[in-house]
Amino acid sequence: MSEYILDIKDLHAGIEGEEILKGVDLRIAAGETHVLMGPNGAGKSTLGNVIMGNPVYKVNSGSMIFDGKDLTEMSVDERAKAGLFMSFQNPLEVPGLTMDNFIRSALRERTGKAIKIFQFKKKLEETCSLLDMDEAYVQRDLNVGFSGGEKKKAEIFQLLMLEPKFAILDETDSGLDVDAVRIVSKGVDIFRKNGGTLLIITHSTRILEGLNVDATHVIVDGKVVKEGGAELVETINAGGFEGLKNE
Ligand SMILES: Nc1ncnc2c1ncn2[C@@H]1O[C@H](COP(=O)(O)OP(=O)(O)O)[C@@H](O)[C@H]1O
Ligand SMILES: [Mg+2]
Repeated sequence: MSEYILDIKDLHAGIEGEEILKGVDLRIAAGETHVLMGPNGAGKSTLGNVIMGNPVYKVNSGSMIFDGKDLTEMSVDERAKAGLFMSFQNPLEVPGLTMDNFIRSALRERTGKAIKIFQFKKKLEETCSLLDMDEAYVQRDLNVGFSGGEKKKAEIFQLLMLEPKFAILDETDSGLDVDAVRIVSKGVDIFRKNGGTLLIITHSTRILEGLNVDATHVIVDGKVVKEGGAELVETINAGGFEGLKNE
């Protein structure tokens, strides 16, 4: 078995009639934190969506192995059950479904058994207090009327409740005020310390402060054009993406 929890090789994928990912290679070992950067429209969110199995996107060729299993053969539900999670750039609003009920059914889906209400409540309370969140907030309809910052906090809350093996955070930090960034960073740190593996899509160094980044990948026009350590984030923020394509 691969030493990587996620092993993507020469992945070509896109939408009907248009290839967006043009041969992506990406390897992440269990427990590591990786950063994915790249200019707007490079294919970062598409890569996240393809890993999660969003049916809008089609895989044309290449391989994606997660935890020893071939992802390309798996449905969205099977991928979630296998321990994949993605926090979206624009989370959906779901009127009529409260956040706690959503999380409870997601947990049931994943584990195949109902979690006891008492245990569940206890974990909700603990997670609320870890993230300095009001408990009233988890009884509201999922994302309905949430501000941008509240939506992102809600996703971090779900991350800690669902405890996936692998989480993709898609620009979870964009447009957040300092307090919300602090909560997101705290949640990410707890997830990491509990052994979770992360792929963080971001332009900002704020969320990365205090995090131990194991590797950075830069994607331009559907291909990974550069890889490096944590320092690459700073290099790119100083010098931009220009020039990377031709290296
Ligand atoms: N569902 C879609 N329909 C049409 N075009 C798409 C779709 N998803 C992504 N694209 C296109 O693919 C390219 C990469 O998009 P995206 O993955 O969102 O980039 P990034 O997240 O790096 O900014 C863009 O040109 C975008 O317009
Ligand atoms: Mg994006």
